[in-house]
Amino acid sequence: MRRRRLYEGKAKILFEGPEPGTLVQYFKDDATAYNNEKHGTITGKGVLNNRISEFLMSRLNDIGVPTHFLRRLNMREQLVHEVEVIPLEVVVRNVAAGSFSKRFRMEEGEPLPRSIVEYYYKSDELGDPLVTEEHITAFGWATTQDIDDMLQLTLRINDFLSGLFLGAGMRLVDFKLEFGRLYTEEDMRIVLADEISPDSCRLWDVTTGERMDKDRFRRDLGSIEEAYQEVARRLGVMPEAGPADVQGPKTVQ
Ligand code: TMP
Repeated sequence: MRRRRLYEGKAKILFEGPEPGTLVQYFKDDATAYNNEKHGTITGKGVLNNRISEFLMSRLNDIGVPTHFLRRLNMREQLVHEVEVIPLEVVVRNVAAGSFSKRFRMEEGEPLPRSIVEYYYKSDELGDPLVTEEHITAFGWATTQDIDDMLQLTLRINDFLSGLFLGAGMRLVDFKLEFGRLYTEEDMRIVLADEISPDSCRLWDVTTGERMDKDRFRRDLGSIEEAYQEVARRLGVMPEAGPADVQGPKTVQ
């Protein structure tokens, strides 16, 4: 079946969905870092991220956090609501790491006095600059009400996911969320969109401090595939046939 490809990103492709108002989100094995400077493939990543994101979005739906997720379709695809994308990356940090450690010259792993939420404007050309509410409202990317809704959801998601990961032996150091506007006949709601996976989270093993996320790729730490598999295994969502099942279909259309 030929489907219309609506958008192709670094790690995902969006196709027209089977019904109006739906999209099919396809997870690729491709990985990029440092604003596209580093490219690579993480074998099986798409299959695992599809499962991990399905699981986390479903648990969030269970506690009443609205998300774009509808259902998983197959190894690499999930059905989602079509939303109007808010062009922001909302980052939550519980522990200093990555760009935050660089910016404030803090040792990676230093706990923060409280969770810190940051906004970045999604723009490859500009390299996703850090922005404030002033920029967001002045340029019309989101309203004050949208920002308030996103912040409330983000803090709930952080509390819930921090506990969920801790229960599976992982420390949720920081992560990135994206939101969209979901329109119904009566109203508009801000919902969680995109994905939550080791591509968009920093996860450290609680006892060893070992990195179990995309930093293994960014920093050439090796055992990348194994780390993604271990996250899936600990969350109880490893495909039944195990890593052998992880290659998934080779063709997209
Ligand atoms: P950072 O320390 O590089 O700013 O990243 C913070 C968190 O956000 C980290 O968990 C990785 C995630 N992230 C993305 O998912 N996409 C991005 O483009 C960036 C820069 C970070």
